[in-house]
Amino acid sequence: MAENLIIAAGDKEQRYIALIPQIEALIAGETDPVANMANVAAALKQTFDHFWVGFYVVKNGSLVLAPFQGPIACTRIGYGKGVCGTAWKEARTQVVPDVEKFPGHIACNSVSRSEIVVPVFREGEVVAVLDIDSAAPDSFDDTDALYLEQICRLLVFC
Ligand code: SME
Repeated sequence: MAENLIIAAGDKEQRYIALIPQIEALIAGETDPVANMANVAAALKQTFDHFWVGFYVVKNGSLVLAPFQGPIACTRIGYGKGVCGTAWKEARTQVVPDVEKFPGHIACNSVSRSEIVVPVFREGEVVAVLDIDSAAPDSFDDTDALYLEQICRLLVFC
C-alpha cells in the first residue's frame, strides 16, 4: 500500500481518475468495513478538502454515524430524513446544490452549503451512505456522482 496519497493536478475528473486506483490499492486485501470507510473518507478529504466527508451505516432501522473526516456531526438519521435518509430511501445519489432548498435537510453544521450523498449497496440493499458536505454552494455535479458511485462500489461490506 502506498504511504502517501498522490493528488493529481488538474480538474476534479483528473483527481478522481488518479484517486480511484489508489483507493483500490488501499482497500485491497482488507475486508473490515470500518477500516475501509475510514481510509476512503480520509483519501477523499485529502484530495478535495471538502468541509465534511464521511459515512453513515444502516443499523437497526437508522443511519448511524461511521468513519468521517471533519467536525462533529449528527449521530443518527431516520429513514427518509434529510439528504442522507432520502438517499437511503430512494436508493440513489442525491446532489444538493443548495442545502437550504432541500426540504428536510438536516443541518449538522451551518457551514455546509451544498452536499452529495451516495448510497453503498450490498446485494441490492442500501447498507450505508457516503455523505460529502461543502462550504461552497453548487460544489457537486454528475462527475462527482459518477466517480463517487464507483468508489462506493469498491467498498466491501461483510
Ligand atoms: N446534511 C445531512 C446530515 C448529515 S451531515 O451533513 C454530516 C442530511 O441532511 O442528511
